[in-house]
Amino acid sequence: MASAHIEEILPGRATTRLVPAVPAFPRGDALPVRGLLRLPGVYRPQADSCLLASVIRATTVPARASALDLCTGTGVLALVLARTGAESVLAVDLSRLALCSARMNGAVRRLPVRTRRGGLPTAVTNGPYDLVAANPPYVPCPPVTDRTLMSCDAGPDGRAVLDPLCEQAPALLAPEGQLLLVHSTMSDVDRSRELLEAGGLRTSIAAKAVVPFGPVVSGRLEFLVEHGFVAPDARDEELVVLRAQR
Ligand SMILES: C[S@@+](CC[C@H](N)C(=O)[O-])C[C@H]1O[C@@H](n2cnc3c(N)ncnc32)[C@H](O)[C@@H]1O
Repeated sequence: MASAHIEEILPGRATTRLVPAVPAFPRGDALPVRGLLRLPGVYRPQADSCLLASVIRATTVPARASALDLCTGTGVLALVLARTGAESVLAVDLSRLALCSARMNGAVRRLPVRTRRGGLPTAVTNGPYDLVAANPPYVPCPPVTDRTLMSCDAGPDGRAVLDPLCEQAPALLAPEGQLLLVHSTMSDVDRSRELLEAGGLRTSIAAKAVVPFGPVVSGRLEFLVEHGFVAPDARDEELVVLRAQR
């Protein structure tokens, strides 16, 4: 059996310079990563996870709220949702190893985190939710041929998961529900807002931060530069958390 990795992100590891007039970029301790179980190949929480966690923590969660962590990975954001007051949290991911990690991370902390394997249709079927958090794949990539990399596939424009998610967001949300969605400006934040607003949702920018390239962007740098997503001399990208509500 593959061995598990115990991950610990040291406070400050993901910090970077701040963008003025938005909530301060979260310190590393915004995420409950101490003792986080992460099975091989599962996404290690990064600056995007951290930024979204800070927005969840600053969001008022209604009593008895049901929450969804779509694209859960280790389940780290499901843990934040549960600790912020959600009564039940559903963690959804395509990856078995991710779900196994998320299930164990919830169980050892005795938090109300359930898991379901699947994508957006699974999330819609089990909804609606008062609060939805999503950190989906969003970094543009060349066509994926290796099945083991499928779960990182954001498509050549970065929108393979973002477009259907934004289009179907209204179906995920309870009447007073809200979606918190993080992605990079390189994957077209305006397009996300257009799609969400076309579905009758109001959108706003809940937070943004400029962060050094993480491992996903660094691993695709040649493709990203070649296709104009990243300037040749760039070393960092801007992350945005969108809030969408009725
Ligand atoms: C960027 S990681 C985020 C993980 C975690 N939420 C975090 O912030 O650390 C994206 C996750 O989405 C999953 N994923 C990719 N495509 C998906 C899809 N269409 N539906 C559900 N999950 C998907 C991947 O397996 C991966 O665990």
